[in-house]
Amino acid sequence: MSLKFPKSWGNFPATRLRRNRSASWIRGLVRENKLNVEDLIWPIFIQDGFQERTSIPSMPGIERLNINGLKKSLREAVKLGIPAIAIFPLINKNNKTNDGKEALNPNNLVCRTIRSVKKLYPNLGIISDIALDPYTSHGHDGIYYKGKILNDETIDVLKKQAVINAEAGCDIVAPSDMMDGRVRAIRKSLDKNNLKNVKILSYAAKFSSSFYNPFRNAIKSSGNLGKEGKKTYQMDPGNSREALREVALDIKEGADIIMVKPGLPYLDIVKEVSQYFPVPLFVYQVSGEYSMMQAAAKNNWLNFRNIQLECLLAFKRAGANAIITYSAIEIAKILRKH
Ligand code: PBG
Repeated sequence: MSLKFPKSWGNFPATRLRRNRSASWIRGLVRENKLNVEDLIWPIFIQDGFQERTSIPSMPGIERLNINGLKKSLREAVKLGIPAIAIFPLINKNNKTNDGKEALNPNNLVCRTIRSVKKLYPNLGIISDIALDPYTSHGHDGIYYKGKILNDETIDVLKKQAVINAEAGCDIVAPSDMMDGRVRAIRKSLDKNNLKNVKILSYAAKFSSSFYNPFRNAIKSSGNLGKEGKKTYQMDPGNSREALREVALDIKEGADIIMVKPGLPYLDIVKEVSQYFPVPLFVYQVSGEYSMMQAAAKNNWLNFRNIQLECLLAFKRAGANAIITYSAIEIAKILRKH
């Protein structure tokens, strides 16, 4: 694309763009995009058992929390003004099965957590992931049969999972499975069960990415994905026009909010989706992005907070309304101090 340079945009030496960069106060006034605590969604790993916190070696600074640990951490999050959390469970090994049926247990870790968090903090948004990977022994997001992930059979389970999580009290269900047609099925099931106001945040353009590895360590879901991994349902990293089709379909099926994932390596997709579709757009800065930055910071090669603020601002600039980031608390603290 070539850009015509209109006369009114100015000419040197009358025009000097550095004038507006000369001091902090003027840089702030002319800044086009700003990062706010209201933009941040905090993803949290939860676990059963007596241990309040366990560390995740591939994600320095991030812990899995049991309900007591969670309650303590949420006090801080709410005080900082974090608007919403997204929860991801570590399911005990003996509850992981080939069909992932623990996902449909209304008393599973996720549902119990949703109920207690909602009671404590009714004004904190709760996002629940809809997919089977925490619950399956193979680690796939759907029903696995003879080497294949079955689309329609998976949808039948996911729509029940969505209803169960919504009945437990979550505000947003977020299908992250990438099956075709699941948004419509979930919307229909929610409506049938008088859950009309529960929102659907669709992981519409979710790429088959190697940046998810630390997440899979955290919920121990990398078990047995096979040679192809999740490539038969998550998107090919080479495609951007297909991302627009995915988004268009999900909007048509009833998605209230669209997600692009991962974040930084797919910034072009964030930008394009925001330009094409007048629908709220979230971006997920995934585990590998976080871990990569932590690793560099540990070596003193980069300053974690500074590069994180820069990346999160980049998401806003590209058109995201909100960002899911593991650094939500740390960043919120910085933003509150300013
Ligand atoms: C599972 C799910 C994944 C993430 C969010 N939901 C992993 C995957 O698809 O294997 C990744 C998040 C991250 O890496 O931070 N459906």
